[in-house]
Amino acid sequence: MTTIRDRGKAIRTFIVENLDKHSTDIARMAAQKFECSRQAVHKHLHKLVEEGVLSAEGRTRNKVYRLAPLVTWEKTYPLAGLAEDGVWRDDISSVLGKLSDNAMAIWQYGFTEMLNNAIDHSGGSAVTVKLEKTAAATRIFVLDDGVGIFKKIQGALSLADERHAVLEIAKGKCTTDPANHSGEGIFFSSRMFDEFLILSHGVFFSHKFGEDEDGIMQLPSPAKGTGVLMRLHNHTSRSDRKVFDQFTSGEGYGFTKTVVPVELMRYGDDNLISRSQAKRLLARFDRFAVVVLDFSGVAMIGQAFADEVFRVFRRKHPEVELRVHKANAEVRRMISRVDAASPAT
Ligand SMILES: Nc1ncnc2c1ncn2[C@@H]1O[C@H](COP(=O)(O)OP(=O)(O)O)[C@@H](O)[C@H]1O
Ligand SMILES: [Mg+2]
Repeated sequence: MTTIRDRGKAIRTFIVENLDKHSTDIARMAAQKFECSRQAVHKHLHKLVEEGVLSAEGRTRNKVYRLAPLVTWEKTYPLAGLAEDGVWRDDISSVLGKLSDNAMAIWQYGFTEMLNNAIDHSGGSAVTVKLEKTAAATRIFVLDDGVGIFKKIQGALSLADERHAVLEIAKGKCTTDPANHSGEGIFFSSRMFDEFLILSHGVFFSHKFGEDEDGIMQLPSPAKGTGVLMRLHNHTSRSDRKVFDQFTSGEGYGFTKTVVPVELMRYGDDNLISRSQAKRLLARFDRFAVVVLDFSGVAMIGQAFADEVFRVFRRKHPEVELRVHKANAEVRRMISRVDAASPAT
């Protein structure tokens, strides 16, 4: 049996969870969902403002409500001698406040991996950490003043363009220091958070779950160094273990499977037609047992591109299983055309 109190709590939870996407029509949304009057919803909005959970702007009739920051925090650390686990233990874990165990585990993994990257890879002198928590979600921004992530990868892998580094990061197992690192930190962090964004010199890498939320683009793209933004819903049901498990191929353990957004190959209106584009896509695929090619957003591929990926590479690397995901009819048609051209074995 639900009591009036439970119902009030459910309405307030609904408001908090949906406010980011519906800051102007939240009262209408909640009234519809709970089949009550807008006045009833307004009572709950007022209560949330009184409690400091929401802030209100504007006049009575056109008030705009927003989630109020419950915590805002910022600190700059010199990179020399810094240890990521110490910063987590002494500062971040307590500033974050109370969160569920699974949310805390994701924050610990993502934060320490990104701070370690600034320490081990950036070559900079300082790192700034910003944290903001509302009743719905928490964001952490880690910003260093080093060489910049895409520049660093471009140099190490001799890539023609800084933007090609974005694709390499999306594939995973991308590291410029294989003796000491495995290239998993960004791959897994980006898949644990609701939003994960890296900005450097006007180039960005992003990974997002579910609906878009605004606000992120207000972050300054650092003129120097690398900025990483992570956002996680405070009541997430995701767990780090579940995310790790998604990228094991079934034979044995470890990071043996990846999902590659093929769309990252395209710049502007470039179509995917050439063998050299295909080779860029295929680079380092042989480090995985399974590669899922996600064709979302790709309208077509050319014959030479398809032949290089689905016939030449498959013949050269029969140990790598290529899977095709979310390909439209046009892309599927081109793939089956080159597949049919393969001599039967
Ligand atoms: N803050 C940074 N500054 C410069 N380069 C970075 C930074 N963070 C990551 N990188 C580059 O991105 C690569 C991938 O990072 P990551 O996924 O954490 O793997 P790993 O740290 O194991 O190499 C690093 O090897 C490094 O070349
Ligand atoms: Mg790392």
